[in-house]
Amino acid sequence: MAPNTQFKILSIDTSCDETAAAVTEGKKVLSNIIWSQASLHAKFGGVYPSLAKRMHKERIGWVIEKAIKNSKVKIKNIDSIAVTVGPGLAIALEVGIKKALEFAEAYNKPLIPINHVEGHILSVLAHSRNLKSQISNLKFPALAFVASGGTTQLILVYKIGDYKILAQTSDDSLGEALDKAARMLGLGYPGGAILEKMAKKGNSQTYPLPIPMLGQEDKFVFSYSGLKTAFYKLVEKELPLTPEKIYNLAAVFQNKAFLNVERLLIRVLDEYPTQDFLFGGGVSANSELRKRVRKICRQRNVGMHLPYSKRLCGDNAAMIGVAAGFKAARREFTDPDKIDRLPRWKVDEVK
Ligand code: KG4
Repeated sequence: MAPNTQFKILSIDTSCDETAAAVTEGKKVLSNIIWSQASLHAKFGGVYPSLAKRMHKERIGWVIEKAIKNSKVKIKNIDSIAVTVGPGLAIALEVGIKKALEFAEAYNKPLIPINHVEGHILSVLAHSRNLKSQISNLKFPALAFVASGGTTQLILVYKIGDYKILAQTSDDSLGEALDKAARMLGLGYPGGAILEKMAKKGNSQTYPLPIPMLGQEDKFVFSYSGLKTAFYKLVEKELPLTPEKIYNLAAVFQNKAFLNVERLLIRVLDEYPTQDFLFGGGVSANSELRKRVRKICRQRNVGMHLPYSKRLCGDNAAMIGVAAGFKAARREFTDPDKIDRLPRWKVDEVK
């Protein structure tokens, strides 16, 4: 089913540490404003929930205003308000939901609750004002991989709105593991992108580290705790760190973490030989991982799809608007009295 291409949606996402609002029309992104709090959480080495809530509250009004202004759509011409209700930090989600309710009531617009992970899956379908979507016809079932700071899941997409999680992490998410490795190397937070930069200058074969879940791909589980512990011991042994050592250690960690993804992806594609692969979430911005996943897809004649801009890889509200466009076409609106935060909402659970 296609989204309603005339339908204009104001979408809001405050699920973690990005305060985000966007205006979309079907799959077309008219504006996409993201105010990242990451630098404020850096000293804690991760997201500090009460600070996230406070900063969302402080910034959400400004972010929405800017999203509406940049879209050049008048608020009276917005057809619906979409908001992420889960998964995410409960007290952070609450801020976006409250704001969505305020707007829905003040302007008498219907509300659409969205699952954040569904947003990441469908982010690859979004297109800019000038550029049409490269994906005209997805073949279902398709396979999606969402790799972010909160999620590492391979998901079967029976059709848009109908999902089954095939594999997920038993401990850290891939983004979290990369962030922790970066922190051990003193590279700051969030460290995924910095680790990638360092890894480019290093040699991934310089130190021995285990490949997570090696030989256990049949379990359909990602896992990074063993790799993380082994890495911690290795870093301790190599102290004091020189730039050369940091490059090599970053390359070694990234390589082993990505080998886990590659092996599991191959295993899942063996069992579910789909023709389209949708890759979203913050870690999908990583060029080394893109290269490796692309190679696997090419070998199997699978079409690989990424968001059209890196602004749509990490947390954003445009992807929430795109997902809401499909829900609007299915007339899936929600009673304002029933909308609530769902911090643990799995994308394959019908709510
Ligand atoms: O999707 P996202 O913005 O937030 C969540 O939904 O959690 O993803 C954030 C994660 C962080 O762990 C960050 O380090 C990682 O995505 N990330 C990257 C890159 N850019 C962001 N990881 C690896 N390489 C990158 N270039």
